[in-house]
Amino acid sequence: MKVSLKSHWVVKPAEPTWNGTVSLSEFDQTFAVTHVPTIYYYKFCQDFVTRDIIKTLKTSLSKALVHFYPLAGRLRWISGSRLELECDASGVVLTEAETAARLDDLSDFLLSPDHNGLFPRVDYTIPIDELPLLFVQLTKFQCGGIALSFAVSHAVVDGQSALYFFSEWARLSRGEPLMFAPCHDRKVLHAGEPATASPTFEHLQFNPPPLLIGKSNTENENKNETKGSMLKLTKIQVEMLREKVNQGRNLEDSKQRSYTRYEVVTAHIWRCTCKARGHKFEQPTNLCICVDIRKRMQPPLPKSYFGNAIVDVVATGLSGDIASSPLEYVARRVREAIQMVTSDYANSTINFMKKQEDLSKYQDIHAFKNKEGAFYGNPNLGVISWINLPLLGLDFGWGKEIHMNPGIHEFDGDCVILPANEGDGSLTVAIVLQDAHVDAFKQFFYEDI
Ligand code: COA
Repeated sequence: MKVSLKSHWVVKPAEPTWNGTVSLSEFDQTFAVTHVPTIYYYKFCQDFVTRDIIKTLKTSLSKALVHFYPLAGRLRWISGSRLELECDASGVVLTEAETAARLDDLSDFLLSPDHNGLFPRVDYTIPIDELPLLFVQLTKFQCGGIALSFAVSHAVVDGQSALYFFSEWARLSRGEPLMFAPCHDRKVLHAGEPATASPTFEHLQFNPPPLLIGKSNTENENKNETKGSMLKLTKIQVEMLREKVNQGRNLEDSKQRSYTRYEVVTAHIWRCTCKARGHKFEQPTNLCICVDIRKRMQPPLPKSYFGNAIVDVVATGLSGDIASSPLEYVARRVREAIQMVTSDYANSTINFMKKQEDLSKYQDIHAFKNKEGAFYGNPNLGVISWINLPLLGLDFGWGKEIHMNPGIHEFDGDCVILPANEGDGSLTVAIVLQDAHVDAFKQFFYEDI
């Protein structure tokens, strides 16, 4: 799809904002320089022309940045491959674009590299201290529909915080007041403080994940072409999987609560991936899970905490076990990993990271390819839950979106589970796999329900 960029603006906070340097938390440091893409599609709205939309977006964005001023700042490298944030109101970038395509041409809004032009392009050759933390692109379709896409720095916010910002910005855009003022106090996660103790857990999430048996590096796997798929699971299919797993529960253990949708669907995905990749039985495989720690911390973080408050944890297994055992066994492994994430685990992670002289080898694991080549592709997998994030219903004043999608990811083993756009309890699994494994995965994914 050809998308032409028409104009762009640097949008700054509408009023003077706090100016100074902010120490980032260890959880911010993990994500270094990635920007997370999402896109919202809106149908033609008669009351608005593009000029009005751009004006509304610019004005409301600049008002929103008064409250969410860290997003208008810039990052800076400091010693030990760490980052700090300069809150200097440099601004964010809003781009206007157009395409001759129609929304109807998007064939069910499937993830496709052909849609890349609808997303803001982030140029990582720009020095980090000049690189904006938020890019927004408005693309007008020939039918009058629009796409609004975002790329937001993961070094500054996680998914929860990014969506909190979008929803507050949308409120201001609709002429409503801010709902909650953000909490910018990263000291609640000990940002800028020395380690308080030695780590008390083994932090597998920082070890290189297993390689394919017989391989000494990831070079070949890393080179293989990958493909993203969006696979729908209806509410009934999710319930069928859940029933299967819950039937296998140890009912004598009355404390064992029923499995959640995330645990069940993730177990199913892990299993289908192991099968589709055709591993040897004894092939070790890691599943990386991203856990929100806001409520798990003691004391819990403020609801409006604006930053990264997520930590990774790893479930391990042998591919043959994962593929051939009952689904309940796999779901239990997923649950056991998640249950490790307590306030103590999060504090131990903080201490682990604070004790590293150089963080470079731990950064960007969510891009599943870090500077030293850690690779969460074959035989491993990372499944991120967006199931309960407030993703849907983003109304800037011209109605709610007709569809939202995560951006295109290209790394093998990168998977996000999100609520389907129908909002009827069905789920969408967005997964990237090597081309050679995609067809088999899809077949197992539906046949094994
Ligand atoms: N609204 C409605 N229901 C909610 C909810 C919310 N805000 N939060 C949790 N629930 C529901 C869940 O849907 C689940 O019920 P279900 O089985 O019917 O789906 C139940 O409460 C338990 O949820 P939770 O404790 O979150 O467990 P989980 O197994 O669904 O998810 C994690 C486990 C680790 C994935 C999840 O706790 C988590 O941390 N998610 C956030 C991940 C994140 O931040 N992603 C973005 C990364 S940038």
